[in-house]
Amino acid sequence: MTLLITGGASGIGAATARLAATRGHRRIAINYRSRDAQARKVVADIEAAGGQAVALPADVAREDDIVKLFDETEKALGPITRVVNSAGIGLHARVEDFDGATLARLFTVNTVGVMLCCREAARRLSTKRSGPGGHAGGVVVNVSSMAGTIGGRPGASAYAASKAAIDSFTMGFAKEVAQEGIRAVSLRPGMIETEMTERTLADRETRAAIEATIAMGRVGRADEIANAIVWLLSDEASFISGVTLDASGGGFVFGKR
Ligand SMILES: NC(=O)c1ccc[n+]([C@@H]2O[C@H](COP(=O)([O-])OP(=O)(O)OC[C@H]3O[C@@H](n4cnc5c(N)ncnc54)[C@H](OP(=O)(O)O)[C@@H]3O)[C@@H](O)[C@H]2O)c1
Repeated sequence: MTLLITGGASGIGAATARLAATRGHRRIAINYRSRDAQARKVVADIEAAGGQAVALPADVAREDDIVKLFDETEKALGPITRVVNSAGIGLHARVEDFDGATLARLFTVNTVGVMLCCREAARRLSTKRSGPGGHAGGVVVNVSSMAGTIGGRPGASAYAASKAAIDSFTMGFAKEVAQEGIRAVSLRPGMIETEMTERTLADRETRAAIEATIAMGRVGRADEIANAIVWLLSDEASFISGVTLDASGGGFVFGKR
C-alpha cells in the first residue's frame, strides 16, 4: 500500500503523513513545491515510525510535474493505492481587485491540479487497468474547504469557488470510478491553524471574530483533520464515496452564537 500526499511538507498534509505512518501506511511519498527541508523532516519522522518515505518535488500547477510525481512515487515505493490532494493556496482579494493571472494561478493549483492528480489516480489505481501483478483499487481524498459552502469570508470568494469546484468534481469522479475499486471523497476543513492561516490567526481580534462564527467556538488543529483523512483512507470507510465530509467544529454560523 503506497500513499502519495501532495502538499505533504506542511500543515494538514504533513499531519496526515505523520499520522498515517503510525496507522499502517508503510510507504508514503511526500510531495512538496518549495519546502524541501520541511519535506525531509516529515520523511525522517515517517522513517522513525518504521515506514519508508520519499520527498518528491513537483508543482501541481504543472501537468508534466504531476505525471512525473506519480511515476517517481511508483518507482520508489511501488503501485500507489492512496492519494491525498492537500496542496493548495489561499487568495485574499476583493472582487473589485481581481486580476486574471492571479485567478488563473489559484484555479490551476487548487482545482485543475487536483483534477489532474485524480486523472493519474484513475489511470493507475483502477482495477480495470491492472497491469502485471494486478491493481486492487484505492482511495483518493481531496482537501477542499468549508469556504466553498458559504462563498468564503469577505475577500475569499475566489478561493471558495476554487474549492467548491472540487466538491462537485469529486462527486462526479467518484461515480466514474466506483466500480473500478476506487473511492473518492472531498474533505472540507473549517478554519484550521496551519502555516496558511497563522498570520490571520495571530491577530487576536481577528481570531476571536472568526471563532465567534464557528459553532464550537474555536479553530481546528491539523491533527484533527488528519484523523478524518486517515479514517477515510482506511477500510473502515469502505462504503463511503462520492461525498463531502465536513470537519469544521460544527460549521460556520453567522451573527451571534
Ligand atoms: N488551514 C485552513 O484553515 C484550511 C481550511 C480549509 C481548507 N484548507 C486546505 O487544506 C490544504 C492544506 O492547507 P494547510 O492549511 O495545511 O496549509 P499549508 O501548510 O500552507 O499547506 C499547503 C501546502 O501546499 C503546498 N503547495 C501550494 N502550492 C503548491 C503547488 N503548486 N504544488 C505543490 N504543492 C503546493 C504548499 O507548499 P509551498 O508553500 O511550497 O507551495 C504547502 O506545503 C489546502 O488545500 C488548503 O486550501 C485549509
